[in-house]
Amino acid sequence: MTSSTETKNSHHRQIRSFVLRTGRQTAAQRRALDELWPNFGLNIDNQTIDLATQFGRAAPIVMEIGFGNGENIAAMAMAAPEKSFLGIEVHEPGVGHCLLQIEQHNISNLRLIRHDAVEVLETSIANGSLDRVNLFFPDPWHKKRHNKRRIVQRNFMRLLAQKLRVGGIFHVVTDWPNYAEHIAEVMSNSPEFIALPEAPQDRTITRFDTRGSKLGHSNWERAWCTRSKLPITP
Ligand SMILES: C[S@@+](CC[C@H](N)C(=O)[O-])C[C@H]1O[C@@H](n2cnc3c(N)ncnc32)[C@H](O)[C@@H]1O
Repeated sequence: MTSSTETKNSHHRQIRSFVLRTGRQTAAQRRALDELWPNFGLNIDNQTIDLATQFGRAAPIVMEIGFGNGENIAAMAMAAPEKSFLGIEVHEPGVGHCLLQIEQHNISNLRLIRHDAVEVLETSIANGSLDRVNLFFPDPWHKKRHNKRRIVQRNFMRLLAQKLRVGGIFHVVTDWPNYAEHIAEVMSNSPEFIALPEAPQDRTITRFDTRGSKLGHSNWERAWCTRSKLPITP
């Protein structure tokens, strides 16, 4: 079992959507990682995670990829106790911060994974098991030579389409216009998904909303759901 981002599978995918930042960790975050991880953290070991067992019940699963400090996923988990929330993040201080919120608010329907979300989806999540996948302010990789590191790519959408249930939702927001154009193009080439007329209105404002507004960016927020049947394409 390992919770490290460097697994024996690392060689499968060379291009990652993140660079591990060393970022300062507070003593409280360290304590949370030591004491709370056994109850709220899921270690991955390349076996499919039995989510119903981990949450102690069968309930719709909402995954958030790259939850940062966890403000949004903690707030969403508190607002929807009937759902189970699974947060994935590689940045350890962020995971520690989120664990502290779980403790402070006594949140029982949230579990965390500290690992590359793409590998987690590939190795540990059963097909058709997710109700919704949220991707809020993914790293923009705005320099042209870095665009290939953006998490939203055609292969990633194929993978999400497998993991979401039929009618499951993919909700994304970015404040980078060029990433928005890229996502729109990938989605227009992803026949497994149908665009929804509007995105769900249940996310919490995070510091990335604020940072975007300071940069003069406005948010581009969209959602799609998976089709019941693939359209026939030539
Ligand atoms: C720009 S931040 C946004 C954080 C958060 N969603 C918010 O709105 O506050 C993007 C986050 O995604 C995480 N991330 C990027 N690629 C990831 C991956 N493949 N797996 C897990 N986390 C990832 C980064 O570590 C970073 O914390």
